[in-house]
Amino acid sequence: MALPFLKKSPPKTTAAGLPENLPQHIGFIMDGNGRWATKRGMPRKFGHREGAKNFHDITRYCRSIGIRNISFYVFSTENWKRPQEEVDAIMNLLWEYLNDCDEYLEQEVRMIFIGDKSRLPERIAKRMVELEQDSAKYDKMNLILAINYGGRDELKHAAQLIAQEVKDGKLEAADITEQTIADHLYTAGLPDVDLLIRPSGELRLSNFLIWQCAYAEYYFTNVLWPDFNREELNKALVDFSTRGRRFGGV
Ligand code: FPP
Repeated sequence: MALPFLKKSPPKTTAAGLPENLPQHIGFIMDGNGRWATKRGMPRKFGHREGAKNFHDITRYCRSIGIRNISFYVFSTENWKRPQEEVDAIMNLLWEYLNDCDEYLEQEVRMIFIGDKSRLPERIAKRMVELEQDSAKYDKMNLILAINYGGRDELKHAAQLIAQEVKDGKLEAADITEQTIADHLYTAGLPDVDLLIRPSGELRLSNFLIWQCAYAEYYFTNVLWPDFNREELNKALVDFSTRGRRFGGV
């Protein structure tokens, strides 16, 4: 929701009624699954199952309207603190999903998993690598899933890689640029986030793509993630199209 005094430009729409200037990269924080289930008197894990269904539909929709990059916050480095039953339920959903990706491969979607794979159950980490390899040739859309991911952890990891290169004499400390850091993130080669969407009424980034969201436009809504459907996404896209993005210029 842009404040009224910010510069706005009227959206130009396509024949399909969508704005012409769609974001190149959308980040989704899939928040509100637990509350969605609790409101219905169900255990939280049912909310995650509904959230996963919605993830599928939003991914299909983004592919169909030509969004080139979508990132989802599936499991953060902090989510291990949740009750074991809930962690297991999310890991089970993830395992189910990782074994049901034919549709994405047929749609020529490249799958990229960002985060620290080393703490994940071995079968999950292995399957993620296989899917990355099997889909590396596709370029219709990048589907980026953040799993055991934290923005600060990602920056720490990049700093370690860069420090090692300096130690090995491959790089001078004085030659480290912003691009050097970007090139050592899990998202190396991918564009920054243009539009960051967080449903469920929380107004924070929660350690998601903190470097990549430096110039993102933020869209917050009270709708819970399982209810954040295509129509809700269209609203976010229209809102995005009216934002005056200046990237520090005038
Ligand atoms: C945040 O909502 C959601 C998560 C931490 C998990 C997201 C996981 C999924 C949607 C399912 C797995 C996805 C795939 C791709 C198979 P919350 O639980 O914090 O909600 P709350 O704020 O209402 O408690």
